[in-house]
Amino acid sequence: MSHILILGGDGYLGWPTAMYFSKRGYDVTVVDNYFRRNACTELDVGMLYPVPTLIERAKNWYEHTGKEIKVVIGDLTNPEIMRSLFKGDFEYSWAINNNFSGIPNTVIHYAEQPSAPYSLINYQYANITITNNLLVTNNLIFALRDFSRDTHVVHVGTMGEYGTPNIDIEEGWLEIEHKSRKDRFLFPRQASSLYHTTKIMDTDLMWFGVRMWDLRITDLMQGPVYGLETEDSVIDERLRTIFNYDEIFGTILNRFIVQAIVAYPLTVYGKGGQTRGYLNINDTLQCVHKAAETHAKKGQLRIFNQIMETFSANELAEKVQDIGRKLGYQVKIDHLENPRKEAEEHYYNPTYQGLIEIGVKPHYLTDEILEGMFRVVEKYKDNIRRDVIFKGIKW
Ligand SMILES: NC(=O)c1ccc[n+]([C@@H]2O[C@H](COP(=O)([O-])OP(=O)(O)OC[C@H]3O[C@@H](n4cnc5c(N)ncnc54)[C@H](O)[C@@H]3O)[C@@H](O)[C@H]2O)c1
Repeated sequence: MSHILILGGDGYLGWPTAMYFSKRGYDVTVVDNYFRRNACTELDVGMLYPVPTLIERAKNWYEHTGKEIKVVIGDLTNPEIMRSLFKGDFEYSWAINNNFSGIPNTVIHYAEQPSAPYSLINYQYANITITNNLLVTNNLIFALRDFSRDTHVVHVGTMGEYGTPNIDIEEGWLEIEHKSRKDRFLFPRQASSLYHTTKIMDTDLMWFGVRMWDLRITDLMQGPVYGLETEDSVIDERLRTIFNYDEIFGTILNRFIVQAIVAYPLTVYGKGGQTRGYLNINDTLQCVHKAAETHAKKGQLRIFNQIMETFSANELAEKVQDIGRKLGYQVKIDHLENPRKEAEEHYYNPTYQGLIEIGVKPHYLTDEILEGMFRVVEKYKDNIRRDVIFKGIKW
């Protein structure tokens, strides 16, 4: 059985990914240190509903499916914890049997501080973001160098690494002709937050590991994800992923739906022409699965742009307004003074064919999908805290 190690397996994407692979017969181990939950508690941002601990989730999954997801609680900035995952000399926090599943064939690396506003609260949060994200990635590439150069890493990067250049965005690489000579380089990157800058640095660290030690790595440049229901969460609502709607950890569409339900005007920053690529959480699962199944070659940094369609902030707000009104909500749109430093109108034309070519079938943002999200979020309406929706963290 193929052994898959999911770093950051308690997170918004990590837990659904663990169930997705477990259901498909992989031997799954998840690792997390509750960084995200602790940050939510520390910053008092609240979540839409309470979520069981990672150990409780794994037990619950086992009760429903008879499939084991091994859980390790540990901080991956500690190199010894990272290395123990490849040597098998760690204590499981929860497992049916404590046998080491062997060196992982695939590592899915999600274990990072994922919020741009968090990284810009002040210099301390900037430092946490830089040290956390880069140490985890560096510990991973050295563990691979020392124990298993053949293990394939699927890392989730971000489309934000490219920024919004005035040229078409390619999938990771660009051939450049300079003074009549040609070479292929990583596509120029110019992030607009400190968090996104750490993702650029991740890519550079992994590219270094690929060049020096022939590692095999797929870096998925993902856009903001929306949604909360996956094929496995419908079995039992306690298997649902975490859901944030606050300014720090919530992603735009998830937030707009919550805002619409509590009659909080949708918070569009500035003119609202900011255009990005988006995807459904179910497509993230498909993408990492297809990436794991097809894997990068030895000495290859394979990059895909992981988005399914593009929208401006205004377009998303209008879609939520339309569906919200249809469902009987009074939905207003507010153009706030932009707390971020970013272009509010710009050219945006990314390529995103690679994942489709390896078999991903997109779920587009239809009215039915939006309505389905409204229906789930409505159930937790009484938990929604208006005070965490907008705080105006400035760049
Ligand atoms: N959600 C999105 O819209 C989105 C978009 C683009 C890229 N990404 C990237 O995808 C990945 C997953 O995102 P997410 O939304 O699931 O975020 P998340 O915060 O929910 O998940 C990350 C998980 O990693 C864990 N973690 C962080 N640092 C750790 C450490 N030092 N040791 C152990 N565990 C640690 C956290 O506790 C959390 O459970 C991130 O790398 C993020 O940058 C997410």
